[in-house]
Amino acid sequence: MTMRTAAGDIEIVSKLGPDERLLAFDVLDGLTRPFKEVPPKHFYDAEGSRLFEQIIEQPEYYPYRTERVILEACAEEIVARTGAAELVELGSGVPTKTLLLLDAMRDAGTLDRYVPFDVSESVLLGSAERLVEQYPGLRVYGVLGDFERHLDALPVAEGPRIIAFLGGTIGNFPPGSRRKFLRGLARELRPQDRLLLGTDLVKDPALLEAAYNDAAGVTAAFNRNMLAVINRELGGDFDLDAFEHVAFYDREQEWIEMRLRALEPMVVNVRELDLAVHFANREEMRTEISAKFTRERLQADLAAAGLRLHALMTDDDSLFALSLSGP
Ligand SMILES: C[S@@+](CC[C@H](N)C(=O)[O-])C[C@H]1O[C@@H](n2cnc3c(N)ncnc32)[C@H](O)[C@@H]1O
Repeated sequence: MTMRTAAGDIEIVSKLGPDERLLAFDVLDGLTRPFKEVPPKHFYDAEGSRLFEQIIEQPEYYPYRTERVILEACAEEIVARTGAAELVELGSGVPTKTLLLLDAMRDAGTLDRYVPFDVSESVLLGSAERLVEQYPGLRVYGVLGDFERHLDALPVAEGPRIIAFLGGTIGNFPPGSRRKFLRGLARELRPQDRLLLGTDLVKDPALLEAAYNDAAGVTAAFNRNMLAVINRELGGDFDLDAFEHVAFYDREQEWIEMRLRALEPMVVNVRELDLAVHFANREEMRTEISAKFTRERLQADLAAAGLRLHALMTDDDSLFALSLSGP
């Protein structure tokens, strides 16, 4: 499906037709496993995206502002090194850090096209409209889809391009899927293209756990919102108050895990799936992993995908890293 909006410079391609039923499949599959799990892409309805915008403002949540600091320092150099005319952004969300890259491309006189790719329609349309106004002459080609399945929807590159995957979202993949995903991405890169990857780094577990357990409870609300998404989209009857937010650092795996814990035994019905889900008292379901990286882990993952690390940029405290790699 292709939608052209009133602003002639925006084209949106949607891979999320009515037949796609991503959520239905993931909920049926995930809630019938011995250890229940629903993947984090389903956090992001309009309310989830709004809550995420609040998470990044919490004092404990260092990844967002740290990646921003790195981009402020390095955007110009990244653009100079790549000569990029085109910025593809996976899981683009609400573009804020992206503006630093677009500004640098505009200032270098190379900016031509922005390709945001997201599962959230409201976020994708909103950002496309805003950006064509903010950058006269910019063409926006948005892809509404799941980057795990729909990379084939990326338009053919027209100039040197950067594929950006920011925010540490790569950490949401378990290690095997992560390498598979990176291999798929590598196939999209021509010799002159570069992958700009944001990765959160291994650090003091206390800092990590605080980031996912903010005192204001915003991450907890974000986590529980997934149940509201299932209720609305699939006719579920989850009682949000009957689940508590859990986030902890798994020191062996070196990842953060977010879960929802049932506060009592219960049966939840999901009408559209004709599914009754039993929860035991204190049973947990996983909603996200967020893997943390060392330089070695990053390099090994890139190498397994046939990518070579060209530059690694970090903040003064080595909390977060941005890497530039290519085939
Ligand atoms: C954590 S936010 C990051 C937003 C922004 N890029 C940043 O760095 O702050 C993740 C974004 O990725 C999108 N997303 C998550 N999983 C996705 C998937 N499988 N396919 C496409 N978009 C996805 C969400 O809708 C959300 O906008």
